[in-house]
Amino acid sequence: MTKAGIYGMGSYIGDKVITNADFEKKIDTSDEWIRTRTGIEERRFASDGIESSDMAYESAKKAIEHAEISPEDIDLILVATVTPDMAFPTVSTQIQEKLGAKNAAAMDISAACAGFIYGMVTAQQFIENGVYKHILVVGVEKLSKVIDMADRNTAVLFGDGAGAAILGPVSEHRGILAFELGADGTGGSHINLKGPHIEMNGREVFKFAVRQMGDSSIRVIEKAGLTKEDIDFLVPHQANIRIMESARERLDLPIEKMSKTVHKYGNTSSASIPMAMVEELNEGKIKDGDVLVLVGFGAGLVWGSVALVWGR
Ligand code: UT7
Repeated sequence: MTKAGIYGMGSYIGDKVITNADFEKKIDTSDEWIRTRTGIEERRFASDGIESSDMAYESAKKAIEHAEISPEDIDLILVATVTPDMAFPTVSTQIQEKLGAKNAAAMDISAACAGFIYGMVTAQQFIENGVYKHILVVGVEKLSKVIDMADRNTAVLFGDGAGAAILGPVSEHRGILAFELGADGTGGSHINLKGPHIEMNGREVFKFAVRQMGDSSIRVIEKAGLTKEDIDFLVPHQANIRIMESARERLDLPIEKMSKTVHKYGNTSSASIPMAMVEELNEGKIKDGDVLVLVGFGAGLVWGSVALVWGR
């Protein structure tokens, strides 16, 4: 059977650095509270005029270059986002035009912070059944436009950015080994965007995240026929260091085997996993043949995980 894997990746990081001290000046919070409760030291916001489609385009360009393909080779574009520039047209069609990916079909996926995992798994199906060869998957968010800067419960948590991957058929011992996707709509009210701003019951989301990040990671490892000892790298959704640490501990992984960018980028929702992977790749930490577990959770509530062997 054909297997799907990642050919190349790229990211875009919001251009404005916003420190905890910047929030201390505006709302009743402290650097100490934010660091100890979330692990966040600073986050990046995109300037006015830089929209999700711009960030998605920049990350996609890099992924295409890294994958050594051309835009015309792309058969499908999947953009995971909850902060598109507008209701329609989609970000995926906006970047299809910008990239000149004229042979690609395009659609957006809405699965909040698990969006990139949902996108990867969707791409995997088209590649494994032979329908499509090259699929661009992007996670992008401009969360700064939907947070209430006066609400300390949410304002300090989020950031802007994009991460992209080109998926395609890979050799027998590389690529996606297993996935797990899930949803629990009964928790829908815990984090939502009904009006202009995100509303969140942090404690409820926290409890769900701790349980599901660990459970889903364990289940995907079992589905892949692996054991905890086989894992070279855990890339968790970067929402809160305490949630990430709980997943790492469930997998008995040493600290250096977990990807961490939450301290400098905050929670960038669907972009956080691919952004973190790009950092590890740039630092040479993810190597050909490494076994990775990617795991995310988010509004919905939803979750998803993937176990894959890096390389093509
Ligand atoms: O991608 C999914 C997105 N969402 C998440 O991942 C959120 C998951 N949840 C969390 O990360 C944590 O629940 C938070 C970081 C949001 C909150 O941490 P916590 O340890 O669960 O705190 P808490 O909700 O129990 O609140 C403790 C106190 C409250 O004060 P009272 O009611 O006990 O007097 C909050 O009002 O901390 C207060 N608080 C703050 N204080 C200073 C909440 N936000 C802040 C803040 N600065 N920014």
